Amino acid sequence: MALLIAIADWDDAAWAEALAVLRARTPLRIWPDLGEPADIRYALAWKPPHGLMASLPNLKAVISMGAGVDHLLADPSLPAVPVVRYSAEDLRLRMRDYIVQNVMMHLRRHADYAAQQRERVWRELAQPLASEVRVGFMGLGNMASGAIEILVAMGFALAGWARSPRHDMPFPVFAGRGQLPAFLERTDILVCTLPLTPETRGILNALLLRGLARGGPLPGPVLINAGRGGLQVEADILACLADGTLHAASLDVFEEEPLPATSPLWAHPRVFVTPHNAAWSSPMAVARFALEQIDIMEAGGTPASLADRARGY
Ligand SMILES: NC(=O)c1ccc[n+]([C@@H]2O[C@H](COP(=O)([O-])OP(=O)(O)OC[C@H]3O[C@@H](n4cnc5c(N)ncnc54)[C@H](OP(=O)(O)O)[C@@H]3O)[C@@H](O)[C@H]2O)c1
Repeated sequence: MALLIAIADWDDAAWAEALAVLRARTPLRIWPDLGEPADIRYALAWKPPHGLMASLPNLKAVISMGAGVDHLLADPSLPAVPVVRYSAEDLRLRMRDYIVQNVMMHLRRHADYAAQQRERVWRELAQPLASEVRVGFMGLGNMASGAIEILVAMGFALAGWARSPRHDMPFPVFAGRGQLPAFLERTDILVCTLPLTPETRGILNALLLRGLARGGPLPGPVLINAGRGGLQVEADILACLADGTLHAASLDVFEEEPLPATSPLWAHPRVFVTPHNAAWSSPMAVARFALEQIDIMEAGGTPASLADRARGY
């Protein structure tokens, strides 16, 4: 039995320590060096080439190196084996830190103060309390959960939007397209950690952004997107920033990655750009997670977080 590692943009140095941990437990193949394909029982993958998984006759499961599985489900020839989503605590905490940091930057008017600093302007701006700001989470999964805990403790006025009704949150949860307008109209800061599926592609568009709350305690609504670039329509976001529909944005993911140097988002004074690293998949944490999941599956158990292929996440 062997584990195949098939990771786009493979970085030998970054994986050296993690490979040692994996090698101590299981024979390894590192794509494109497959060895005997019939030996491969598990694959740890990030954006593998289409058709690769189908070429492994004894594949038992694919483990995604990210929480999102859009990169795997896009392969029409993906065999009907379980797809395990990466859901380690390490990843959850990294996303918690990103979301809390960005919500706090917008709460504390960071973009506006940075603009004043560039002009050497000493002026106090109206400063709402956390409890006066309504934060809306689109997506209430593992990636949102750490930030939700902290923002609840800080007293933010939270709400959530998910695909199905939820009764396990200490705040109102709206479900499905029908309840999206009611969720948006009570949201000052929109935090998106949705997966990219046929239902969610392009959802962060002008129509949605125009539905956000008006007259809130910040100069205007704010968008934070740490889900996937395919969720957002960047031309719409720029137009909404220009006409005041949006005051500011934090974007970690983009329609095209790396974000092209020509994108106006780079230089926008009220946009915070990060290079799709809100929650980085640390090789060591991924390796440990993969070994745990393989142990569970080899013992006949069900892995931690299986993707539902019909739902697309
Ligand atoms: N930027 C980064 O560094 C980074 C890192 C890791 C992950 N991510 C992104 O984060 C995404 C979410 O990860 P996760 O672990 O939180 O996933 P998850 O646990 O599966 O949660 C997904 C959430 O989105 C909701 N959702 C899915 N489709 C929906 C729809 N059509 N309408 C409304 N709500 C919908 C789900 O609703 P239900 O509760 O009803 O199922 C659920 O609450 C990943 O897919 C990936 O794209 C980004």
